[in-house]
Amino acid sequence: DAPIRVAIAGCGVVGGGLLARLLGDPRYQVTGVLVRDPKKVRDVAAPSDLYTSDRAAFLAEKPDLLVEALSEGEAGHDLIREALQAGIDVASANKQAISRDPAGLQALADQHKALLVYSAAVGGGAPMIETLRAARQAGPVTRFEAVLNGTVNFMLDRLSAGADFADALADARVAGFAEEDPSSDLEGRDAAAKVRLLSYEAFGETPGEGTITCDVLSDAFKPNGAPVRQIGACVKSEAGLDATVLLDRELEDPLFLALRGERNALKVYGEDGRVWSCKGRGAGRWPTTESVLADVADIVRARHAALGYH
Ligand code: NAP
Ligand code: HSE
Repeated sequence: DAPIRVAIAGCGVVGGGLLARLLGDPRYQVTGVLVRDPKKVRDVAAPSDLYTSDRAAFLAEKPDLLVEALSEGEAGHDLIREALQAGIDVASANKQAISRDPAGLQALADQHKALLVYSAAVGGGAPMIETLRAARQAGPVTRFEAVLNGTVNFMLDRLSAGADFADALADARVAGFAEEDPSSDLEGRDAAAKVRLLSYEAFGETPGEGTITCDVLSDAFKPNGAPVRQIGACVKSEAGLDATVLLDRELEDPLFLALRGERNALKVYGEDGRVWSCKGRGAGRWPTTESVLADVADIVRARHAALGYH
C-alpha cells in the first residue's frame, strides 16, 4: 500500500512528538509541517524543507489527513475548516479550536465526507472522550466532573509541598504541560474549553463560553494542609447546563485526591445511577502523542473499512 499522507500543523510539544513518530514509520509520509517560524531550531530531526508557514501551500500538498496541534485556537479552527472543506480528515489536539463550535465542525466534516476526531484535546493520554461516549451509549448522562488540567494539578501538588509559585510554573512549562500562554491553564480557560467539549459529548450541546465560572490559580494561593484539586464540572437540569471550573478544597473523592502531578481523571454519572470513570496522564509530549496516534489509527481503520485512501 502507498503510505498515508499526513500534514502536521504545529511542531511544539505535541506536533514535534508526532513528527518524530511518523518520520520513522514507513506507513506514513509527512507532506509538510506548518509552523509560524520555519527557521526555528527544533528538537526533532526532520528535513528542513518540510517546514512552512504558508497555509495554502501546506494544504495544497493534498494530504489524506491533517494532524492539527497549533497553540492558537482561532488559527487552528480556521485550518480545520479549510481541511474539512477540502475533504481532508482531521485529528486535532487543540481544544480551543474544536470547542469553539464542535457541532458546526462535525456538520462540515459530514458535508464533505471527511472524518474529524479530537480525543487528544481532552485529558491528554486519559481516554475521556471515549469514556463519555461509552456512558452516553448506555443511557442518558446527568453530570460529569473531572480534573482536566495537568499544569494546575502539577502546580497544586508542588505548591502544597511548599514550592514557590514561579518555580512550580516554570517546571510545568519545561515539562511541556503548560499552554504557550499559561494564563489559559491558570485562569481555567483550558479546563473550560475541555468542559465544553465533554458537554458536547455528554449532552449534545455546549455551555456558552462566557457562562463558565472559573477560579484562578495565582501566587496568592496559600495551601492550608487540605488537598486541593481544580475540578471542571457540568450538570444538566431542566434549567439548562451549569458548568464550572473551581479550585475545590473540600474534596473527598479518592479518585481525584489520589491524582499526582499532571494526571487527569473523569467521572460520569448516568441517569440510572451508573458511574463511569477513567484516569491517565493529562499532559506532556508522549502521552499526548500516543493519543493523537490512536486517533490517526482510528481514521485509517475507518478509511480502510470503507473506501480506503488509495
Ligand atoms: P506548543 O509547544 O506551544 O507548539 C505550538 C506550535 O504551533 C508551534 O510549533 C507553533 O509554531 C505553532 N503555531 C501556533 N500558531 C500558529 C499559526 N498561527 N500558524 C502556524 N503555526 C502556528 O504547543 P503544544 O504544547 O504542542 O500544544 C499544541 C496543541 O495541543 C494546543 O492546542 C494544546 O492545547 C494541545 N495539547 C497540548 C498538550 C500538551 O501536553 N502540551 C496536551 C494535549 C493537547 P512555532 O514553533 O514556529 O512558533
Ligand atoms: N496545558 C494543558 C494541561 C495541556 O496542562 O492540561 C493538556 O491539554
